[in-house]
Amino acid sequence: MTMRKVVSVVGAGNVGEHVASLLAIKGFADVRIFDIPRRDGDKVFEPVKGKALDLKQMVAAMDIDTKIEGFTVSPDGNGYEPIVDSDIVVITAGFPRKPGMSREDLLEANIKIISTIISKVRQYAPNAILIVVTNPVDIMTYVAYRLSGFPPTRVIGMAGVLDSARFKTFIAEELRVSPKDIHAYVIGGHGDEMVPLVSISNVGGIPLKDLIPKEKIQEIIHRTRFGGGEIVNLMGTSAYYAPAAAVVDMVEALVTNSRRILPCSVYLDGEAGEYYEVKGFCVGVPVKLGANGVEEIIKVPMIEEEREMWRRSVESVRKGVELAEVMIGEKSVHR
Ligand code: APR
Repeated sequence: MTMRKVVSVVGAGNVGEHVASLLAIKGFADVRIFDIPRRDGDKVFEPVKGKALDLKQMVAAMDIDTKIEGFTVSPDGNGYEPIVDSDIVVITAGFPRKPGMSREDLLEANIKIISTIISKVRQYAPNAILIVVTNPVDIMTYVAYRLSGFPPTRVIGMAGVLDSARFKTFIAEELRVSPKDIHAYVIGGHGDEMVPLVSISNVGGIPLKDLIPKEKIQEIIHRTRFGGGEIVNLMGTSAYYAPAAAVVDMVEALVTNSRRILPCSVYLDGEAGEYYEVKGFCVGVPVKLGANGVEEIIKVPMIEEEREMWRRSVESVRKGVELAEVMIGEKSVHR
């Protein structure tokens, strides 16, 4: 009998609970969710247990048999025993971006949270594949890599799938076509300098640049880059439906060993690092995702203009990495 895979989601806030809900509906893995309690005066709530119960009843109502459990943990790391033997651990715990706040502002607070979670994953689920969602995601993915000691193939940041979905949305609206027929990748750091790869993007095989005038493409690139901020300004907090769907796309590729090519933030070094001019940190590039995690780093062609954009994007990630480096210091397992 083959056991169903177990996907644990740490942080069942906006993004985490939608990841759990989509996974529950898709039904290809059992789901465990973890979050801290919420205090309101004297009363202590355990929202994560309530959400798990609600999701359990949702799948019952939908005739789906996904197993879902919720566990309350403490910020200092108590209560993580049930994460044991998880195949995939999705980390969304952390503070979301508020209006006017940059992703870098979140760095210090979120590094603290991630450190505790990683130490528990190392203890209870040392073979898991990590998917990092917490922002600033390229830096948090690097921190997760350094603190976990896991091979780079098992530490993956979610950003490119989301940014590419935003890019596709705006192209689809412009051309009035299904987003399904659009192949468009966004690579680089998950920030304002991300790199939408126009030169290789196409709609039904036809190059994007032959379908949309240059100025309009520039507008779409701008809206894609600031796509997260546009939603923050409307909702007062960051997006969650599309981010959750992007995570689930990645989880599905891993669990079903589908070998999809998805842009993800991964540790670049060696030969791929040379191609991308990145030595020893995490940035978004297209990768092949299969049962073992990152099975291949794809060296995507870039025209000179894109290379320049790529270099700027990488440089801003590198600065964040330097800051993070000081914050994690001696705790690093990989050196
Ligand atoms: N341990 C476990 N869970 C924690 C901890 C902790 N130490 N600290 C906070 N959390 C939980 C919160 O209780 C909350 O439920 O993390 C969850 C975060 O959820 P939200 O505040 O709703 O944030 P969300 O919109 O889901 O974004 C999560 O993903 O996209 C990124 O920038 C975003 O970094 C943010 C993360």
